[in-house]
Amino acid sequence: MSSQTSIEIKNQPALDLSADTLLIPIREGDKGKSGFLQDVDKLTGGALQTLSLSGVITGQSGELTWLPSTAPAFGRIAVVGIGSVGNGISGANAARDIFATLSRQLRSRDAKTVLIAMEPLANAIGSAELATQTVTEALILGLYRFDKHHTNNKDIPKYSLGRMTLALGGRRAARAIENAHAKGMAMGSATNFARDLANTPANLMTPTIIAEKARELAETKGFEIEILEKSDAQRLGMGSYLSVASGSHQPPKFIVMRYRNGGRKAHVALVGKGITFDTGGISLKPPGGMEAMKYDMTGAATVIATIGAVAELGLEANVLAIAPCTENMPGGSATKPGDVVYAMDGQSIEVINTDAEGRLVLADGIAYARSLGKPSAIIDVATLTGAMGVALGDYRIGVFSNQDALFRQLEQASAKTNELLWRMPIDDYYGKQIKSDVADIKNTGGRLAGSITAAKFIEAFVGDVPWAHLDIAGVMAANNDRGIKVKGSNGTPVRSLVEFIAARG
Ligand code: BES
Ligand code: MN
Ligand code: ZN
Repeated sequence: MSSQTSIEIKNQPALDLSADTLLIPIREGDKGKSGFLQDVDKLTGGALQTLSLSGVITGQSGELTWLPSTAPAFGRIAVVGIGSVGNGISGANAARDIFATLSRQLRSRDAKTVLIAMEPLANAIGSAELATQTVTEALILGLYRFDKHHTNNKDIPKYSLGRMTLALGGRRAARAIENAHAKGMAMGSATNFARDLANTPANLMTPTIIAEKARELAETKGFEIEILEKSDAQRLGMGSYLSVASGSHQPPKFIVMRYRNGGRKAHVALVGKGITFDTGGISLKPPGGMEAMKYDMTGAATVIATIGAVAELGLEANVLAIAPCTENMPGGSATKPGDVVYAMDGQSIEVINTDAEGRLVLADGIAYARSLGKPSAIIDVATLTGAMGVALGDYRIGVFSNQDALFRQLEQASAKTNELLWRMPIDDYYGKQIKSDVADIKNTGGRLAGSITAAKFIEAFVGDVPWAHLDIAGVMAANNDRGIKVKGSNGTPVRSLVEFIAARG
């Protein structure tokens, strides 16, 4: 599944080390006059200087040029343009995509072991720590592949990269660099963990299997886990969640995870939609593209991966993560349009459309979270509405929140990760669309403002708790490789939620 490439850091100048491929980042317009580039030039027998002066090497963002090496320490030298990557977070965000794309180019050219001279990038970004975290993440995310089920070698990349070493140069605060590297590793691997769960076809990623994967993660990363079975959900009165599960032969699994390392601080509750396959149920979806509904558990994958990374990094925080998992299938005992069900908090719901199932599992996910004690915030993550992709495309996550401060914290976290989001309205006005004639609320609100009425439905279960709803339907998967995105599940917004928890505590 995910790449086996090892990524290491060394507090030594790159030119004191050795590797099959030496990688040199170069800024746009940099004609090789710096002392460092003059040293590199010597290793290329003057080729770097010649190609720079003749305009072949421009340093434009992403430009990759292979040069021969006259030094026995290096098999060959690759020069990568980092354009005008600037200071701070925006520079890091640009560099993350450049290095992710680059990692795949290096792999396709059999770069074997790669040594990256980090100093030019660290200077451009203005922080060796940020540059280290960024490149570490970029390599892990960019090299990700889901090729477990290819049985022909010709279908998988011909080469794989061995060791990649980030050479930071001397005189660096070793501890801070190590922490940045560890953070990059944790962020990247947690995202790839979520990608693996989501990319795995639904017959091989049932609620039972997700629960097993979460349990394994809990054991390796060190957080508490409890799996509520169907009988537990019945006892607790989770009629909304169970109404989605009733058409399936796969037993539903309601996963409850806790990480406690924040002393007396109030906890943050994360709730992720875990529909392992969404057929639509009796309100059956059309066949075209239905295979993408294996991704309908991306919210669950996101919260599981997030709490795993939070535990791995040992953040000082208290986190509750809940993943109500089930298939949404038509079947003899499936919920029918017009059925009325009761959520755990007692609210009655008229199920107009069994394909609006995500909000039904979230209702009980949120009600259960609140029954365990008041969180300081609830954040739900869900591939909730096709309309979200219509509104914001595959670029930004739609965020609905009842608290400005919470929204701003999420926005700040997402600025660091470049997993962009956009605030959507939840005016009370939209609530009238989901008023039911026969129950407290109904699960669809008609064609207009589909993502907003879905959010209004969820809002009915959060009470007075600060809450944000992240509709990730538009961004759940990429249709081609581009920067840190690899065709298939994106694993967003795992990194943002980890940043959010790190900042909030
Ligand atoms: N899982 C889907 C939403 C979805 C659609 C995610 C496309 C990613 C890509 C969700 O359960 C759903 O079916 N929503 C319906 C709601 C409607 C019936 C009110 C939709 O968006 O059509
Ligand atoms: Mn659906
Ligand atoms: Zn769904």
